[in-house]
Amino acid sequence: MTSIDLRTRRRHEVQDLAAGFVRRELLQTLAAANAGIAARGIGATEAGTLSISAGTEKFSISASLGNLTIRDGIAGSGVVVSMDDAALSDLFQDVVSLGWLQMMGRLELQSGSLERLVRWDPVIVALRDGVPVYDGRPGDPGSKLSGRDLDRTFTLDDDPGETGAFLAETGFLHIRGVFSPEEMQAVSHELDAAMHCAERDDGQSWWARTEEGWYPSRILGFNRKSPTLRELLHSRRFQSLASFVDDPFVHGDIEASDMAEGLLKKIGVSEGISDVTWHKDCGPGGHSYGCAGLVVGIQLTGADQQSGELCVMAGSNRANIPGLHSVGNFGLDEVALTTAAGDCTIHCSCTMHMSRPPISKERRVVYTGFHLQPFEEEVSALPSESTRREQRAGLQDRVGAAVRAGQSDEPEN
Ligand SMILES: [Fe+2]
Repeated sequence: MTSIDLRTRRRHEVQDLAAGFVRRELLQTLAAANAGIAARGIGATEAGTLSISAGTEKFSISASLGNLTIRDGIAGSGVVVSMDDAALSDLFQDVVSLGWLQMMGRLELQSGSLERLVRWDPVIVALRDGVPVYDGRPGDPGSKLSGRDLDRTFTLDDDPGETGAFLAETGFLHIRGVFSPEEMQAVSHELDAAMHCAERDDGQSWWARTEEGWYPSRILGFNRKSPTLRELLHSRRFQSLASFVDDPFVHGDIEASDMAEGLLKKIGVSEGISDVTWHKDCGPGGHSYGCAGLVVGIQLTGADQQSGELCVMAGSNRANIPGLHSVGNFGLDEVALTTAAGDCTIHCSCTMHMSRPPISKERRVVYTGFHLQPFEEEVSALPSESTRREQRAGLQDRVGAAVRAGQSDEPEN
């Protein structure tokens, strides 16, 4: 059986933890279980010291001679952050990451760089969840890719078991010829129509600017605006994309929910959100509640170096590394997915990926996907469609502000 279900938490179990409880009780429990793993992570990433001020609590985490040290007070060196009780509570339940807290303005970075801060995200995972920080050593989950042809492509006619094994190991797939060029052209025309109707601040689009002016770079809920796309999403071909591994997947309501987005990537975007640097879609937090979902890129046009293709880090889905703002590739192989119209790319929600800006050709793609079937008891804790829609639309401002501040990470899906 091939599974990519890494879930260890349930959304309905999230609580409001007071900072005093986190400092005095939870950290002691976590250290008793995972001190060695966390200390090794601090050593491997050279994360140094993290000092946190939350509510009335002030404490620091560091490692010395392979031992984890948690002390009261703010350390004289290293990264220093302040946040409120709710942010600390969310951090220690994997609702949110340090990188995303900073990006959303919920964390104040008082000392140290953003790059230094996010080195602590995998260390927090190690301490909180007992997952070793990826250090690229032989035998590490992310390094077991020997013998894999990472440029391999698949079709829907290939053995699903083999396709699923590649997905589970590398975190991505390139499936050729799922749809026809004619079908892609029809969807593309409907994307033109949706973009024509879009307005700034309509809550249904994200915008970017080139020297020709602002344009809608992303149509949210594009499935509701494109009858051809809806037909394709209902097709056996699309549905079979979730059948390569043995986990049960679901997707949003094709007719009513915002489950697909249509993107136009123009050349020369100078402002707004279009192309994104390396990130994991679970980088904001929530890996232990939802990973791995499957993000599907339906290629309306081909994608290559000239039009800015999707790039992935092979095996990163199994590597505990920062999911936002990270620098370097941790020794993992970067793979550029050169596609034709009608191909589909698939990446796991915990796979590092990015898209390059187009150089000489525009590119069009639809992003949609599948989520692991929620556990019955947590369904009531899921956000409503209207809340999700509002959050997705509002993300443009937050992410846009971060981009303007020189932090260009953005969870694309
Ligand atoms: Fe993404």
